[in-house]
Amino acid sequence: MSVKNFLPDQYEATAELEINHNYLQGQFSDFQDILQKIGGVVQKGDFTLGRAVGEFEDRYAAVIGTKHAIGLGSGTDALFLSLKALGVGPGDEVITTPFTFYATIGAIVTAGAKPVFVDTGEDYNIDSLKIEEAITDKTKVILPVHWSGKPCEMSLIGEIAKKHNLKIVEDACHAIGASIDNKGAGSFGDFGCFSMHPLKNLNVWGDGGIACTNSDELADKLRLMRNHGLVGRDHCEMFAYNSRLDTIQAVIADHLLNKIEHITESRIENASRLDEGLSKIKEVTIPPREKGRIKQVYHIYSLLFERRDELQEYLINHGVDAKIHYPIPMHLQAAAKEYGYLNGDFPISEATANTTLSLPVHEFIGEEHVEKMISLIQRFYE
Ligand SMILES: Cc1ncc(COP(=O)(O)O)c(C=O)c1O
Repeated sequence: MSVKNFLPDQYEATAELEINHNYLQGQFSDFQDILQKIGGVVQKGDFTLGRAVGEFEDRYAAVIGTKHAIGLGSGTDALFLSLKALGVGPGDEVITTPFTFYATIGAIVTAGAKPVFVDTGEDYNIDSLKIEEAITDKTKVILPVHWSGKPCEMSLIGEIAKKHNLKIVEDACHAIGASIDNKGAGSFGDFGCFSMHPLKNLNVWGDGGIACTNSDELADKLRLMRNHGLVGRDHCEMFAYNSRLDTIQAVIADHLLNKIEHITESRIENASRLDEGLSKIKEVTIPPREKGRIKQVYHIYSLLFERRDELQEYLINHGVDAKIHYPIPMHLQAAAKEYGYLNGDFPISEATANTTLSLPVHEFIGEEHVEKMISLIQRFYE
């Protein structure tokens, strides 16, 4: 096998579509302002863990509603290091969902533990009523994923964790700004982990991640772990890792944090309009929304569609960047072979993977784009 970088082709494949998932040119149209701020970092030279990192972390923690936020190299590192900080290692099991991005499982496996899957419910998130059945004496952590920016049922997950003395790491990589009863996603568990990958709602010019926690002790541990275990230039408390959020990326993320409300509200508005227009089509299933109590931020806007693959081709041919997030659940990936899961083990995740399709809803999607997507889908099913 020869492993090639497939990303350049992937970027170019859909670049010309009118209604695109990629909106970065728009999001960073004020890049001259950002460059000016970066100029300050260049002049000062504090590229690693410079002052701007701490300033951004404080603002981020306030947005999520936690005592601490620790800037890291990526969302994957946030998950991996959080698990390590909680003492997860070989022989341990971590309960999570098969309907997620590869990184959730990669972090568990890199930490040395075994991923144990629990099927999803109708809303794409882990079915919290099925979690207890999966607990063994090796279980150490429950790792719910707030898929697409919809928070999981955290009160029930919290009760289960308490009853069985388990830790919680939230994969909140899709969920900045999401909340349950006004409490931020990422603030419920021992750690809440966020990604700032270029296609996330709050993003940087490359990779970046951040982990939030209310525990002083865990925050200290993570701050050590991201920077070689150093408490000062010449003193190492623990041999550890290097996963620092770059100062330059912190400057970019901080700049964008000023716009996060607009970014979030635009997505919610576009999603509501699409929900309304598409709810009349019988071949389309809209997942449960639970508006009011739950604030869902639509990092991904996906519904279930009959004849999904045909519809995707039709939409792409008509200028809509319809994407599948994702067609193969984790337990059926080649990488999961050693865990022995089979097709049919998680029927809802599998059915979701076979019928889900995502439409762009970011802040540069206007009413005319929403109308166009609705009428194209209506026409397809007529
Ligand atoms: C659900 C989920 N978890 C984790 C990650 C990993 O984040 P990153 O790409 O910053 O490592 C992603 C990112 O793309 C994600 O979608």
